[in-house]
Amino acid sequence: MSSAGTRPTPAGRAAGSEETVFARYARLAVRTGAVNLGQGFPDDPPPPRVLEALDRARGGGHQYAPLPGLPALLVALARSEAPRHGRRLDPEREVQVTVGATEGLFAALSALVDPGDEVLVVEPCYDAYPAMIRLAGGVPIGVPMDVDAAGRWSLDPDRVAAAVTARTRLLLVNDPHNPTGTVLPADVVIALAAIARGAGLAIVVDDVYAQLAFVPSTPLAPHAPERTLVVGSAGKTFGVTGWKVGWVTGPDDLVAAVRAVHQWLTFTVATPLQHAVAELLAELGDGGAVDALLADQRAALRTRRDALADGLRGAGLAPAQADAGYFLFADASGWPPAARFADDRALCDALPDVAGVVAIPGSAFRIAPRADDARWLRFAFCRGAETVREGVRRLRAATRP
Ligand SMILES: Cc1ncc(COP(=O)(O)O)c(C=O)c1O
Repeated sequence: MSSAGTRPTPAGRAAGSEETVFARYARLAVRTGAVNLGQGFPDDPPPPRVLEALDRARGGGHQYAPLPGLPALLVALARSEAPRHGRRLDPEREVQVTVGATEGLFAALSALVDPGDEVLVVEPCYDAYPAMIRLAGGVPIGVPMDVDAAGRWSLDPDRVAAAVTARTRLLLVNDPHNPTGTVLPADVVIALAAIARGAGLAIVVDDVYAQLAFVPSTPLAPHAPERTLVVGSAGKTFGVTGWKVGWVTGPDDLVAAVRAVHQWLTFTVATPLQHAVAELLAELGDGGAVDALLADQRAALRTRRDALADGLRGAGLAPAQADAGYFLFADASGWPPAARFADDRALCDALPDVAGVVAIPGSAFRIAPRADDARWLRFAFCRGAETVREGVRRLRAATRP
C-alpha cells in the first residue's frame, strides 16, 4: 500500500522484469555506430512481391478486424499451417492471429500456466520465455542442450523426462532454435511429444524460423495434436520483422484459451497488415512468386551464414553448425581479445570499442547464467551481405595484436 505524497512504485512483476538484452544492445549499436550483428532483422528491402501485397492492402479495409483475425488470413493460415499439424485446421476455431509471435507466446503462456506451475524450457533459450513465464506466475525450469567438440548442439530427451515433476504444466520447444540454429531430428521430436503425452503436459512450439530452415524439420504437433499449440510469425517468414503479425494454431479448446487472453491484450491486429499477410500466405505452396521469394530468402541466408561462419573462423572464433534461422552461436574462448574480459557480458559491452561490432552475450539465453556461458556469443547473419562482410572484416582486424 502506498501513502500520500510518496511516488508510485511499479508492481513486483514489472520491477522484477529486466530489460531485454536486445533493446540494450540495439541501443549500444546506435550509440556507438558499431556494425550491429546483435538483433535479428534483415537490412535488405522487402522482396517486391511483399511490398506489392502491402500496396494492395491499402484498399482492404482500415477498421478493427474480427477478434480471431481477418477471415481471409484465418483461411490462408488454416491451409499454410496444415503441414505443421499434419492435418487441415478449422480456420474459425483453430487459428488465432496475434501481434507477432511475441503476443502469441505471451497469450499462450498466460492461457496455459497457473501461478506456481513449472514450465520446461530448452536452454539456451530466447530471452522472452523465462520473462513471460514469470509474468504468468509460472516457474521456468531450464533443460540444457549439449554441445559436442565439433560445435553441434543437441537435445537429449532423457534430460527433458528427468526434469518433469508433479508441478510441470507445459513444455516449451523452439524448433528451429534460436540462438543455436539447431533443427531437432525426428526421433527427438517424437520423444518430446511422447514425454508430454505421458506426463499430461501442454506443449507450445515456437517455430518462427520454420520457413527459414536449410534442412528438413519435423513438426511436433502431429505427434501430440490434442495438446500442442504452434506459434508462428509473418515477420520472420517474409523478412519484415516490423510487421508484427503472428499466429497461434492448434486444437480448438487451447486456441479458445489463447483467444480469451488475446482479447484483453490487444483484441485485434493491424487490419491492413493482415490483408497483406493473407495474400502472401494464400499463395504458399502454389509454385509461384511467394514460394520463389522464400527460396531466394533461404538461399541468401545460407550464403550469409557461410560468409559469417568462415569469417568468424578466420578471426579465431568457433561458430556452431546452424541449420536454420538468422543466427550463429560462436565459441569466442579462442579469440584473443576475449581473454581480456571477465565474461561474455563484459566482452559484448566492450565489443564496439574492441572491434566496432555488436553481438549478444550467450548468457542472455539462460534462465540463470552458468560458468560455461561465458564463452558463447550470438551473431546475426540475417543482416545485409555488406553488413556481414564489414562485421567480419572488423572482427578479423581486432584479432591482430
Ligand atoms: C525464437 C523467437 N520467437 C519469437 C520471436 C518474435 O517474433 P515476432 O517478431 O513475430 O514477435 C523471435 C524474434 O526474434 C524469436 O527469435
